[in-house]
Amino acid sequence: MYPLNRNRRLRSSSAIRALVRENHLSNDDFIVPLFIVEGKNIKKEIISMPDYYQLSIDLAEKEVKELWKIGLKAILLFVKVEDKLKDNSGTEALNKDGLMQRAIKSIKNKVPEMLVITDVALDPYSSSGHDGIVENFKILNDPTLEVLSKMSVSHANAGADFVAPSDMMDGRVLKIRQALEKEGFFDTGIMSYGVKYASSLYGPFRNALDSTPGFGDKNTYQMDYANSKDALNEVNNDIAEGADIIMVKPGLPYIDILNSLHKKIDVPLAVYQVSGEYSMLKSAASKGFIDYDRLVLEQLFSFKRAGAAMIATYHAKEAVNLLNQI
Ligand code: PBG
Repeated sequence: MYPLNRNRRLRSSSAIRALVRENHLSNDDFIVPLFIVEGKNIKKEIISMPDYYQLSIDLAEKEVKELWKIGLKAILLFVKVEDKLKDNSGTEALNKDGLMQRAIKSIKNKVPEMLVITDVALDPYSSSGHDGIVENFKILNDPTLEVLSKMSVSHANAGADFVAPSDMMDGRVLKIRQALEKEGFFDTGIMSYGVKYASSLYGPFRNALDSTPGFGDKNTYQMDYANSKDALNEVNNDIAEGADIIMVKPGLPYIDILNSLHKKIDVPLAVYQVSGEYSMLKSAASKGFIDYDRLVLEQLFSFKRAGAAMIATYHAKEAVNLLNQI
């Protein structure tokens, strides 16, 4: 009872604050998304994501070496596919000499210990920009699973450590797991974007990869942001189907979901602080409205506090710098 209990005692110096601090952040917590493009010596800033770049494979190799040097040990690969290679069924996704497959090989070749996670979905390869095969304006579930599982095997073949299906088709984790087992890729993990909401925060990313849907939206497969109960259903299915890690996405607006899953399930949880979240911070900072550095750390800490075991974030490199300063 006041004045015997004074809560401010445990906040009164930085030493005592450090001693009672419950959550910590370090380079070990981050997954770095990378955007790969065709060509040589290309480092092109993404207009919708200031200070973030599309990289050709040669420069991605350099970047990955640098990431490894500063202690960042996991990357998440995305590719920008040329228009002429796009079709309805994502044929190019299975090309063993495709951009993704070449990127995985060269990066693993240069920095073998880097954990390479690959995005698995049709959208960058699809002429309609959707995550599945389209027929009469409908996104087909089961035929899409065939492509996703072949795509996963192809990534594993090239050397990927984890595949990360981000498509939200039903049953894909099982099909992918079975296909990997059948081909002998017992150790290739699955990080399932199991809890992925139909969010407007993916806009800047779709600009970066030129993957905006040509018609309609993704509401028939990504989750309705008015709901929370179906998150647990999704996760239970994915775990039963063989997912090793579950991802919640986007980050900050879905922190309630992250925290409730943290209390209910035992597989490691990842959170993806997505492109729109990044771009909002960058634009507010460019106007001088916020203290960018402090806000980046505050948001990253909030993911840890809510229960994320790992954070995919475009701020990873900046965060490592900031954490070295405190
Ligand atoms: C592909 C995919 C998307 C993102 C990750 N994987 C876009 C989408 O579903 O439309 C978004 C990531 C971001 O916004 O940073 N399915």
